[in-house]
Amino acid sequence: MLNPPSLECRAHEFKRLRRNRRSNAIRSLVQENYLVSHQLVAPLFVLEGENRIEAISSMPGISRYSIDVLIKEVIKLYELGIRAIDLFPVISAEKKDPMGSEAILEGNLMQRAVQCLKNAIPEMCVMVDVALDPYTDHGHDGLIDAAGRIVNDPTLEILAKMSVLAAEAGADVIAPSDMMDGRVGFIRQALDNAGHTDVNIMAYAAKYASAFYGPFREALQSAPKFGDKKTYQLNPANWREGLRETLCDEEEGADFLLIKPALSYLDVICRIREMTHLPIAAYHVSGEYSMIMAAAEKGWIDADKVLAESLISIKRAGADFILTYGAERMAQLLKKGWGFA
Ligand code: PBG
Repeated sequence: MLNPPSLECRAHEFKRLRRNRRSNAIRSLVQENYLVSHQLVAPLFVLEGENRIEAISSMPGISRYSIDVLIKEVIKLYELGIRAIDLFPVISAEKKDPMGSEAILEGNLMQRAVQCLKNAIPEMCVMVDVALDPYTDHGHDGLIDAAGRIVNDPTLEILAKMSVLAAEAGADVIAPSDMMDGRVGFIRQALDNAGHTDVNIMAYAAKYASAFYGPFREALQSAPKFGDKKTYQLNPANWREGLRETLCDEEEGADFLLIKPALSYLDVICRIREMTHLPIAAYHVSGEYSMIMAAAEKGWIDADKVLAESLISIKRAGADFILTYGAERMAQLLKKGWGFA
């Protein structure tokens, strides 16, 4: 039972809390976290060909673009205040093989896309996702042996070549999403040896074996043909595992640490925030985005408000910047003066 003095004390605190929520102006004064367009990163899917736009049915509002259309889209994003994009190549089935050979072919789609983008709009920070799964016919992020096991070390060589190719094309940030062990240090060394000492690495540090990647795998036609990714991606039940993986990437030289997915892993973001002084990125992934859009299409929720609330909660947990398919939508809202207060 509360005794009267402490109840009185509580009453003061309740009044004080209410006073600080009294008006939009006061709520604005005391707001703790903000969304800004320049801390939203737009993941983009690039296709071969010209003048092509293919809507992705599992991701309302998101399309795959050929390079010429992509450039126009990226200019639009820049005008909205977005300062970074993350590129994913869509590789046609004929070009996929067990080794992901296309990934290290000079002049491949990724290289051309980066070159064209950097020529058209040099101010935009271009991040390149580095992993084998868009390129392999089995859909895994690593090479596999006869028993279907992932072979870690030979995969590193390929990831390093992909990274150097991307850097040569002008990429600003290499984003390895493959979850092979030791790849951050390996890629850092390869970049440095090739003279790309100023190219950043955004390590997918704590990337969980998540069911939220479903729509993305449809977008790239990259779902694993056998098995799952549980031997190299993390167990959703574990946070200590996420911290250990993250520490490895920090020690190996990562410039940014990324946690993925975001909303179901806010505790991991929060704990990593307390553990490192490096910038933290969070990836609000395809399934997280599509759930909002699907519920909104049914009229059950307000897409704009739920998107904004999702993104601010990721910031509140401790992320510095967020990769989200809702980047353009959110940037438009921010331009119109969106606020929580
Ligand atoms: C694969 C990769 C995935 C995503 C980014 N890079 C999927 C996977 O690991 O199978 C998912 C992104 C998303 O769902 O938006 N290297």
